[in-house]
Amino acid sequence: MSDQRRAASERAGSVSARASEPTTGVVGTPFKPKCILVTGGAGFIGSNFIRHLLAADRSVRIVNADCLTYAGNLENLADVTADEPRYTFAKADICETATIVALCHEHGIDSIINFAAESHVDRSIEGAAPFIRTNVQGTLSLLEAARACGNLRFLQVGTDEVYGTLGDEGLFTESTPLDPHSPYSASKAAADHLVSAFGTTYGLPVIITRCSNNYGPFQFPEKMIPLMINNARQNKPLPVYGDGSNIRDWLHVEDHCTAIHAALCIGRPGRVYNIGGNSERKNIDVVKTILKFMGKPDSLITYVKDRPGHDFRYAIDATRARDELGWLPMTKFETGIEQTINWYLSHQNWLDHVTSGTYREYCEQMYAKR
Ligand code: NAD
Ligand code: TYD
Repeated sequence: MSDQRRAASERAGSVSARASEPTTGVVGTPFKPKCILVTGGAGFIGSNFIRHLLAADRSVRIVNADCLTYAGNLENLADVTADEPRYTFAKADICETATIVALCHEHGIDSIINFAAESHVDRSIEGAAPFIRTNVQGTLSLLEAARACGNLRFLQVGTDEVYGTLGDEGLFTESTPLDPHSPYSASKAAADHLVSAFGTTYGLPVIITRCSNNYGPFQFPEKMIPLMINNARQNKPLPVYGDGSNIRDWLHVEDHCTAIHAALCIGRPGRVYNIGGNSERKNIDVVKTILKFMGKPDSLITYVKDRPGHDFRYAIDATRARDELGWLPMTKFETGIEQTINWYLSHQNWLDHVTSGTYREYCEQMYAKR
């Protein structure tokens, strides 16, 4: 385990320790989850979170409800499911409230963390309807289930993209007005509004986290970092949108997991927490870093037609998470990206598997037009 990973685990352990005092989940007291419904746990962040939490809290039970879209892959949790009695998988659609309610009753769920989503901006530009269904109607369905089961604690995993875009200066704070620009971010903003409305109107103990771009193991290679690694290993062109000057704040997924754990246990209901990586990088610099680590030439870079409505810059002020949750990102980008590249290169079977079949058709359609 690297120093960063050890530090992240210790931080998660300290969250568990702080949260292990007797509690009822009442406002202002730590919440100690016994059985969490994690939705979308077969995707990138959800699967990392499940693995993280089972190690960080030795008594918690987790039910993973996922309908297994193209982005959901039980291979992401192959090492967890083998003989872990504290983990259960249920193939379930979050839009089906009755199914979710039944799962909550059956397993004695005391909290819900909603990772389930359609999550890729480019796909939302091709067609928004699945995004409205899962991200908006699905979130509403889960909120209704949480109410029906006795006002369960509810953590919505949100995104900084709801704030829109920044110029060269400034940071998103939790009071930055929502101004989403893509169908994806519009659907996530609608979901956030529903979540906070259920807190205000029905007293549901809701918490929203809004994080910056994640990277790390098990990310579906439609997203920039694994897409570039996957193309570079095959000496295929690396498609950089526009001139590559757009900026993202990169958050290692393990740091995101410790933040979500902290927000669930010690976050204040009704609160939004911004979660960022303190690692702003231009896309072109990220791509060049990947090529350098992989020993591949910059000539693989291909500038392609820009994404419509492409947000220029995202950057997070995570002061509230630091002050109220005691959370800080632990992973330096240069360390995290090297570990991430090494992970993909040592899991090429996983890459080959998830990029076979329909993914190829997706790439042909998406990139042929650029
Ligand atoms: P992902 O696309 O890798 O995984 C999404 C998961 O949700 C998949 O397992 C999929 O099968 C499941 N799912 C989709 N529709 C469902 C439905 N109707 N019912 C049940 N399950 C369903 O996404 P991710 O990157 O892991 O993102 C997780 C969450 O974090 C999302 O809410 C996303 O908006 C948010 N987020 C992600 C990032 C990022 O950089 N990846 C950044 C900010 C916020
Ligand atoms: P992405 O990983 O899709 O995340 P998001 O759009 O949610 O930030 O894209 C990250 C950045 O990389 C974004 O500015 C778009 C850019 N990008 C490319 O330049 N080429 C690509 O092939 C992809 C998928 C993204």
